[in-house]
Parts: sequence; structure tokens; C-alpha cells
Amino acid sequence: MKIVICPNVEQATLLAARVMEDALRQTPDITLGLATGRTMEKVYAALVQAHRDRGLDFSHCQSFNLDEYVGISPSSTQSYRAYMHTHLFSRVNIALSATHVPDGMATDLAARCAGYEKALHACGGVGLQLLGLGENGHIGFNEPFSAFTSRTRVVTLDPATREQNRSMFDDDLAQVPYHAVTMGVGTILDARRIVVLATGAAKARVVADMIEGPLTASISATALQMHANCLVITDEAAATAL
Ligand code: GLP
Repeated sequence: MKIVICPNVEQATLLAARVMEDALRQTPDITLGLATGRTMEKVYAALVQAHRDRGLDFSHCQSFNLDEYVGISPSSTQSYRAYMHTHLFSRVNIALSATHVPDGMATDLAARCAGYEKALHACGGVGLQLLGLGENGHIGFNEPFSAFTSRTRVVTLDPATREQNRSMFDDDLAQVPYHAVTMGVGTILDARRIVVLATGAAKARVVADMIEGPLTASISATALQMHANCLVITDEAAATAL
């Protein structure tokens, strides 16, 4: 793992966006692995700006998102499909057909998950995976005790995750789904390159566990220690427990 501690959230965010931009310029037909969450909103804003100001071209790339809530329609503002549309897809020149977000509404979810893995494989796998961190150490929605070899599947959300994400559901816990579809830890580890962005004091404990703690399925992010090309970017607040 390489670790870069930036003085503040703005610089950490800009660095993550710059790594994405450089990868896209170097390999225009790259397959990007994309993440959601509040942390990523600023990364996507910076990429939109790079598209507008510096002509960053998304027209040849593919994207695969990490996860989606089960039972939330893509047209609902609470879906991760809508999140991606709002923050990135509708604001840059990526083809809609090149964007992939797991389908949380499928009747046969297991078949859809297998199909997602197949589509990923057909694209040659993820070239650069952007990752955020849940406060419980989840990556994607791989909650504690996810197998390091897990693949795209349906998971039950941890009570702490539902709590952490309630602000996206009118702050009403009852509206937060109990299940999600997520790429597995094994799927994520297959990416050729990974960039983790974690900012703010609430992530300090999990950042330290991810980097310095023992490998444990109780903290999915520790699996990233096994990856040969993983860059962790934090601000100072998220690095205080290192
Ligand atoms: C959700 C996503 C994760 C993301 C996490 C971080 O739980 N499923 O992929 O890492 O949010 O969220 P935030 O950036 O809002 O702290």
C-alpha cells in the first residue's frame, strides 16, 4: 500500500480526481470501478470540471459501480444509479450504455449478480477502482465478515451502515433498505489498480485498521493490504490514528 496524507479534504479529493484523470488520459478505453457516498461527490465534481476545463474525455471508457440498494428503483433519487447520473454521468461525455450499476430491482438477483461479473470480465476487468470506506471498514457494501474471496452478490446491510446512510433517506432509518447488491471483496481485489479515499475524523479508526491492523474478515478493508497496487489518500483528520 502507498499512503498519501494531504493537509485537508480539498487536496485529498483533488489528488484522487487527478489520479483518475491521469489514468483516463493514459488509457482512454479504461474500465473504471466507481464508488458512491458523500466523500466521492467532490471527486466527481472535480472530474466534471476536468471535462469542462481540460477536455477530459470519457467517451471511450466503461464504468462499473460497486453497489446498489435492493428494492430501490434506478429512477428513485435514493438509488446509486441516480447518484451517479446526478454527480457524473449526466455531466460528462460517457455513453449511457458504457455505464454499469448493479440492478437492485431484478427478480432473479443471483442471476443478475453473475451477469454483472460476466460483463466485468468481458470488459477486461477493472483498470482503476475508486473506493471509499464505511466506518465499519466496508468496501462497496462488503460488511464485516464478508469473505475475502466473495464475488458480486446480495448482502444484508449492517445496522451501523443503515445508520450511516440514513441521511440519504430523508434521515428516516425506516426507509433505508436492509439489503444491497455489491461487488465482492474478491471482485474488488481483481482490479489492476485501486485508489482509496477516506477523509474526516470519523474514518480515522478504520483507516488505521485498514493500514496497520491484522488481516481480518471483520474489517473488509484490511484485504486491501494484499493488493499489489493500492494507493490510500487521506486528509489529516482521517490519519490521526495512524
Ligand atoms: C456507502 C457505499 C460505500 C462507501 C461508503 C462511504 O456505504 N456503499 O461504497 O464507501 O458509503 O460513504 P461516505 O463517503 O458517505 O462516508
